Amino acid sequence: MAEAGSGPRDKSGFQPPVTVAITGASGAQYGLRLIEALVAAGHEVWVMISKAAHLVIETETDADLPARPERLARALIERSGAAPGQIRCFGREEWMAPVASGSGAPSAMVICPCSTGTLSAVATGASNNLIERAADVALKERRRLILVPRETPLSAIHLEHMLNLTRMGAVILPAAPGFYHKPERVEDLVDFIVARILNQLGIEHRLLPRWGE
Ligand SMILES: Cc1cc2nc3c(=O)[nH]c(=O)nc-3n(C[C@H](O)[C@H](O)[C@H](O)COP(=O)(O)O)c2cc1C
Repeated sequence: MAEAGSGPRDKSGFQPPVTVAITGASGAQYGLRLIEALVAAGHEVWVMISKAAHLVIETETDADLPARPERLARALIERSGAAPGQIRCFGREEWMAPVASGSGAPSAMVICPCSTGTLSAVATGASNNLIERAADVALKERRRLILVPRETPLSAIHLEHMLNLTRMGAVILPAAPGFYHKPERVEDLVDFIVARILNQLGIEHRLLPRWGE
């Protein structure tokens, strides 16, 4: 499986695109911080935000993010300090978007945070919206797919879906930060998870020292 962080810059001048989907689980900050970290690493970032995620973002953060893809891209570029064109956003039923097809989708997709609803849809191949379809494409093309679920406690349904997805090659990376780095701020907990995601993508970062450093 190709690593998102290993390639040369593509013709856009950015590192290869990574798809980031933010769904309606608690922990919107993980997804927003992941976008910032990918931008800082020079990657193009293709973003989808579910309707429920917009509500969670409104509830949990002070980010003011419009729903329409073009406006959303402008707002995310502004808040992350991205270069023009570095962030592209796609709408819920934008079936002609490159992420909807194996011929156009990036080599890596992260669903962060991932609601149990989207987890279930991905595990069963529902493909009822562009996030679910893009994840389905990632699975069928054997690309890197990382899901960051946040729910507690977990039911047998959640656990079975996670096991099935792991067996299909996806990475289940629960939003469960450790405490051994002695976090002082919420941002330290967020960075713990984002660092783990970047490790999975093979992208260099300085968010946290690696174990043993
Ligand atoms: C403030 C808020 C917090 C939520 N937290 C979670 C959560 O932590 N985990 C989860 O699976 N769903 C959570 N939900 C419920 C999901 O948003 C809901 O199931 C939704 O249908 C998910 O849709 P999506 O997967 O298309 O984003 C939350 C909803 C709201 C409004």
